[in-house]
Amino acid sequence: MSSIIEKDKKHVWHPFTQHFTAENPLEIVRAEGVRLYDVDGKEYIDANSSWWVNVHGHKNAYIGKAMMDQFNQIDHIVFAGVTHPKAVELAERITKVLPQNLEKVFFSDNGSTSVEVALKMIVQYWHNKGENKQRFLAMHGSYHGDTFGAMSVGQRGYFNAPFEPFFFDVDYIDFPTKENEEAILSHAKLLFETGEFAGMIVEPLVQGAAGMRMYSASFLDQLATLAQENDVLIVYDEVMTGFGRTGKLFATDHCKVKPDFITLSKGLTSGVMALGLTVTSDKIYNAFLGEETTKALLHGHSFTANPIACAIACANLDLFEQPLAIQGMKNLEDWNRTFKHQLEKFEFVKNIRQQGTIIAFEIETGEGNTYFSDIKAQAYAYFLKQGILIRPLGNVIFVNAPLVISKADYDKITQSILNFLFEGINQPS
Ligand SMILES: Cc1ncc(COP(=O)(O)O)c(C=O)c1O
Repeated sequence: MSSIIEKDKKHVWHPFTQHFTAENPLEIVRAEGVRLYDVDGKEYIDANSSWWVNVHGHKNAYIGKAMMDQFNQIDHIVFAGVTHPKAVELAERITKVLPQNLEKVFFSDNGSTSVEVALKMIVQYWHNKGENKQRFLAMHGSYHGDTFGAMSVGQRGYFNAPFEPFFFDVDYIDFPTKENEEAILSHAKLLFETGEFAGMIVEPLVQGAAGMRMYSASFLDQLATLAQENDVLIVYDEVMTGFGRTGKLFATDHCKVKPDFITLSKGLTSGVMALGLTVTSDKIYNAFLGEETTKALLHGHSFTANPIACAIACANLDLFEQPLAIQGMKNLEDWNRTFKHQLEKFEFVKNIRQQGTIIAFEIETGEGNTYFSDIKAQAYAYFLKQGILIRPLGNVIFVNAPLVISKADYDKITQSILNFLFEGINQPS
């Protein structure tokens, strides 16, 4: 055991980890492009973009330069009563690429806080208007983060059971499939018509943590129309889907109806710095204006609009204006389509789905779809051995690689998955 692992075991508490049973963590010491290198020099292809954030590859020189340039200008500054050029540039540019109605940007630190801020804005919006609307609608299977508000609107269950007494009440609609869309819409309509709903929140088109579950833009448009007709504020949580994952820059770009809020993080900085954005409309912003300080959103974080994070996010947007990123999105979409056909040959492979750069499928294990499926550990270990880092979501295996991945590296990932399906399952790893 290396001294780093020894010290890690002594002092570090990892996320989503049962340390009593967990294997030693992988010791990664270097990353470049789509590759990660461990302490022994073994390389791994980063098939899930380091928790779905690293869109332009590691150690991207353009982002690195923007980061250093900003460090040499202003590294950090309080953001209450102060502004700085990169925050303003980012706010202006992000609102240009989001739906026209979204004009105002609030900065926070990660996906959970971007959601938390949207929820607080909704609650206070109705409070400031003197209206008693406090109910929220969310979708079964959703994941919006691990702070209390974000957990409240997420899927309830084993991940957050101890905290449930502290959650606010939320009504859930089922996850839409072709068979139940009408029933869900009737359910939502009934709820919205009570007039008690403050807002609804969904992951647009793809539920990430639930296992990359996908549904149609036309369903979302119908749901959002019902919300708008009943004065229910809409949040599209694009923390995972944003920045090219769905084949367009944002999942919202596939939809006709535009939300009142979009939350962003992950791909916003291509994983180089922690940053979250809550983007909303002037309609919402204006409800916080007035003589009384208490009408304002009294919320903030030490790292709000950190200049280095903002400069990196601007550089990230520059890269999305380049042909390489656009081509990367298109390539992955095309390659995924071909891979989908290869997967269709396996009888025990179910529900193969693709949206843009994401492809996912389930392995039929007889235990149903569960995060605790044994296949998860088996697949993870198998792929690691073959030099691929994939973290399956239970029995769901998925690829959402960095946009800069080459065809040769993409083929290594898919070949490794095919090998696993042919020979890896139930064999000792
Ligand atoms: C859709 C969505 N919202 C929110 C979050 C929470 O983001 P973070 O982990 O940065 O707090 C995630 C994280 O996976 C997510 O997928």
